Amino acid sequence: MRTQVAIIGSGPSGLLLGQLLTEAGIENVILDRVGKDYILGRVRAGVLEEGTVNLMDQAKAGARMHAEGLPHDGFSLAFDGRDHRIDLFGLTRGKRVVVYGQTELTRDLMDHREKSGALTIYDAADVQPHEFNGRFPCVTYNKDGTTHRIDCDFIAGCDGFHGASRKAVPENSLRAFEKVYPFGWLGILADVPPVSHELIYANHPRGFALCSMRSQTRSRYYIQCPLDEKIENWGDDRFWAELRRRLPTHHADAVITAPSFEKSIAPLRSFVSEPMRFGRLFLVGDAAHIVPPTGAKGLNLAASDVYYLFGGLIEHYQDRSNAGIDAYSERALSRVWKAVRFSWSMTRMMHRFPDTSDFDQKIQEAELDYLTHSQAAATALAENYVGLPY
Ligand code: FAD
Ligand code: DHB
Repeated sequence: MRTQVAIIGSGPSGLLLGQLLTEAGIENVILDRVGKDYILGRVRAGVLEEGTVNLMDQAKAGARMHAEGLPHDGFSLAFDGRDHRIDLFGLTRGKRVVVYGQTELTRDLMDHREKSGALTIYDAADVQPHEFNGRFPCVTYNKDGTTHRIDCDFIAGCDGFHGASRKAVPENSLRAFEKVYPFGWLGILADVPPVSHELIYANHPRGFALCSMRSQTRSRYYIQCPLDEKIENWGDDRFWAELRRRLPTHHADAVITAPSFEKSIAPLRSFVSEPMRFGRLFLVGDAAHIVPPTGAKGLNLAASDVYYLFGGLIEHYQDRSNAGIDAYSERALSRVWKAVRFSWSMTRMMHRFPDTSDFDQKIQEAELDYLTHSQAAATALAENYVGLPY
């Protein structure tokens, strides 16, 4: 088989790139090692920046997101038993975010891909990119007991942190930067109305908590937990009680509980691998970088990578210029590092670290106090939260 762009990974980055390419008349095939239902069963991000929303529109997949997504003009930082609202809309001259689950965004992109007739190969085993330093790259995979091969012009490695694309690059061609945080997030989904109409990021002596949502009737709650915490130890009653303890009283009293239907623990990590381009192989999204979820940036960074790569591929095919492709890694990394910095600073400011000294604790309190009393500091936070320009 031959295509123009072989895309490894059917997560948000692979699907968004695929849909933009298909709309632009550029042939592409997506391969994933697992099936559609498995991908749609993963519960992950929930906050979309304006740039991500615009890309969904450009991919002609934004209709349901506009109908069902919840525009948010602000969020609350809760500490010292009080709420401190960050007015995103006012501080950024009219920008906002949209709360819409990654699962729904993925479903929309899959549905549109199916309608467009573009090919996705699910349950493809041993997917491997080859010959990307030459002019004739290809991707091989196993399915139904046979090895298949797709020849292509370019390979987009959209296969997440544990994917095959970054692993196919010789180690001495990559430089990795990493920070592992000494805690995780225990998250649940439950069909109850959210405690507040805006998100609440809480810093409490017992640890961080986040009140988010998927809709007016579905809530997503997280609490900071030790890295070695076992999910079996967290029955719903224990989770609800711990969440309430970490919220200001008026919110704690307003939490409505019900049995959760999803519960998982995610470790927190910052990771960047440079560069993001190796000849005709491009790393995109989590394949190249991971951020701790505190700033809600992971999915949005995957989208901005897609923006730069799509622009480069369009220039290649329509204008016969490789300038955009050549600039991909530098452009993407420049935005990635700013989001890595923001996610790290939000994580540092909102969590309780096991080894915190009295000095560190005072610095954290001063930072929160500064942020909630200085318009300049709040503006910087808001500007990063809604997403820096592409
Ligand atoms: P992925 O979504 O990881 O998609 C990669 C795809 O590649 C998958 O479908 C996978 O099956 C496929 N794949 C992997 N290996 C191979 C292979 N060898 N061959 C073929 N296919 C392969 N971000 C936030 O902003 N907020 C959050 O709350 C949040 N929570 C998260 C919780 C978890 C547990 C994780 C892992 C991430 C979370 N993120 C969150 C980050 C966000 O979900 C990711 O940044 C986003 O999914 C990145 O999209 P992606 O398409 O680059 O990668
Ligand atoms: C969600 C996750 C985040 O990491 C975040 O900062 C905000 C919201 C969520 O899953 O809804």
